[in-house]
Amino acid sequence: MIPWRSWSWLIGKQCQIQHALNLPALFTTETVKDAVTSIRRPFITFVLGGPGSGKGTQCARIASAFGVAHLSAGDLLREEISSKSTNGELIRSIIKEGKIVPSEITVNLIHKAIKSSTADKFLIDGFPRSEENRIAFERIGRIDDNIETIKKRLKVFEKLNLPVISYYSAKGKVHKISAKGSVDEIFEKVHQLFSSLKEANGFA
Ligand code: C5P
Ligand code: MG
Repeated sequence: MIPWRSWSWLIGKQCQIQHALNLPALFTTETVKDAVTSIRRPFITFVLGGPGSGKGTQCARIASAFGVAHLSAGDLLREEISSKSTNGELIRSIIKEGKIVPSEITVNLIHKAIKSSTADKFLIDGFPRSEENRIAFERIGRIDDNIETIKKRLKVFEKLNLPVISYYSAKGKVHKISAKGSVDEIFEKVHQLFSSLKEANGFA
C-alpha cells in the first residue's frame, strides 16, 4: 500500500516555493507544474545616471523604439506617495532629503510592477541606486534559481518516481489521495482510507 501524497516531497521547500509562486497552503504536483511553466524570466536592463542626466527621457525613447516596458524607481516611489499607502509618508520624507528609500520598499514596488505587467523586457531607470538596492534586488533574483531547481525536481519525479507508482498501481496496491483542499479536508480522506485498511487487514 502506498498512500500517494504528491505534495510530500515538496514540504521542505514549501514556504519558499509558495512565496515565489503564490501558491495556496497545500498544493499538488500538478499545481506546482502549472505555476512553474507559467513563470516568465524577464529580461531586465538597469539604466543608471546622475540626477538630471536625462536617463528618464532616453528610457522613454528606448521604450518606444524597442518595445520594452519602462519602469522608473523614482516614479514608482512618487506614485506610492500619491496613493497614500502606509509607506507614503516615510517615502515622502526620505525623498525630500534626497536620501535613498529602504531597499525593501523599492524592490517590492519594482517586483509588483514586473509581476503585474504583461511585458517580458524591462528598463529600470534609477535603480539600483546603492549597494543595498542591488543586494535586495539580487535576493529576489535568487528565487528564480529555486524555480529552476523545482523544474529539475519535477522532471526527476516524473522520470524516476512515476514508474514506481505505475508498478504498484498495476498490482492494485496504490491508493491515490488528492492533495487539494485544506489539511482537515485531506485528512478526512486519509482517515477513511486507513479505516478501510484497518478493517481489511485488521491492524490496530
Ligand atoms: O530617479 P529619480 O531622480 O526620479 O529619483 C528621485 C528620488 O527617489 C531620489 O532622489 C531618491 O530619494 C528616491 N529614489 C530612491 N531609490 C531609488 C531611486 C530613487 O530612494 N532606487
Ligand atoms: Mg527620473
